[in-house]
Amino acid sequence: SPSATARTRPKRRASLRCASPLRRTDTSSYAPPVIASKKPYKVELVGGKRYSWCTCGHSKKQPFCDGSHKTKAPGLGPHRFVPEKDSTVWLCGCKYTNNPPFCDGTHKSEFIQCSALAEESDVKS
Ligand code: FES
Repeated sequence: SPSATARTRPKRRASLRCASPLRRTDTSSYAPPVIASKKPYKVELVGGKRYSWCTCGHSKKQPFCDGSHKTKAPGLGPHRFVPEKDSTVWLCGCKYTNNPPFCDGTHKSEFIQCSALAEESDVKS
């Protein structure tokens, strides 16, 4: 019977390697962020200066906004912040941090490491 055949077949194991980029399916009306970098950006910030961290991943001036979100990710926009004092920080590059604009380690997740980078996503879209 078909079920007996199925039982003798070796079980498929989930691979830990990234065989092909994961495809993210978007069910919302807005495009999700694309991954600018799978590592954070080390940046020296000037206290009192206003910064616009790119949330959409499409900016060519990472990790900061260059206005690309207006055409490439309507619905997303920069996260603005003003550091209190001069500081060296790690700003998120994958755009999936839970502590924007700072890196919280989310880029190490399989979801990020196995997904396509922004430039690859841009080519496809
Ligand atoms: S270009 Fe990404 S938020 Fe503006």
